[in-house]
Amino acid sequence: MANIPPNKSRTVYVNGEYVSETEAKISIFDRGFLFADGVYEVSSVLRGQLVDNAAHMARLERSLHALQMRAPATAQDITAAMKRLIRENKLDEGLIYLQVTRGVADRDFGFPASDVPSTLVMFPQSKSLIKSPTAETGIKVIFMEDIRWGRRDIKTIQLLAPVLAKQAAAEAGKQDAWLVQDGYITEGSSNNAYIVKDGKIITRQLSNSILHGITRRAVIDLADILHMHVIERAFTPDEARQADEAFITSASTFVFPVVEIDGEKIGDGTPGRIAPRLREIYIKNALENLE
Ligand code: PDD
Repeated sequence: MANIPPNKSRTVYVNGEYVSETEAKISIFDRGFLFADGVYEVSSVLRGQLVDNAAHMARLERSLHALQMRAPATAQDITAAMKRLIRENKLDEGLIYLQVTRGVADRDFGFPASDVPSTLVMFPQSKSLIKSPTAETGIKVIFMEDIRWGRRDIKTIQLLAPVLAKQAAAEAGKQDAWLVQDGYITEGSSNNAYIVKDGKIITRQLSNSILHGITRRAVIDLADILHMHVIERAFTPDEARQADEAFITSASTFVFPVVEIDGEKIGDGTPGRIAPRLREIYIKNALENLE
């Protein structure tokens, strides 16, 4: 696969410029750096093309609007820049990370003057998405209290809670954490969470409590087409432990089976039937609709 060779400097995007990652510079007064006053998107790339990127652009617009942040460029121009980054880096398979912050100004909590331009940064990251050993084995998750703020529907760059959750999972010898609030699972630390019981797929309904995953939307639509029964409702840690199957979705994993939750084997402790089937159909559909 013609991925970015390790040790070779990537070309990254900073405010309209395409520069080597070793040359790229952001001010220490950038509000993303000082206040986590910014939003981001992660789009996947297969065969040198974007997956479901129009939906990522729509969510970016929504995040920016929710925070009264000005768009750094049109969705069309951002997409064109993403495509140029893919070309210049010869990225075959992986991710494009995109971040918009409320620009550079002296440290002051309130918004800066309205003429301060937002900062737009993008970089590619090579990753094998289709062939994934983790997709074959599945992941193990622990539970963690969901200590994030109340607007998880906005994809902000303030990710300390997920950083701590992933670290706690790693220290427990597991791959991720499912976050729990008021007795119900919200989502994974960087993905949406699903269980399967008696053939029904259950995942939390959309609200401010979870990120409205782009992969979630696509997978639910595909499950509908396959006449799988999807129920959008909150589920409890007990339901999760007793599930027949479980899985997660995100742009960086597509669909990964979950084979252990809080120390309990799910099913027989191997990926079940539904998650691998959804993964297969998701990838097939993505490849047929590259942007
Ligand atoms: N994470 N929930 C959370 C909290 C997330 O951070 C993500 C994505 C998702 C899945 O959303 P989508 O299907 O649109 O990727 C759900 C990205 C991949 C990340 O932070 O790397």
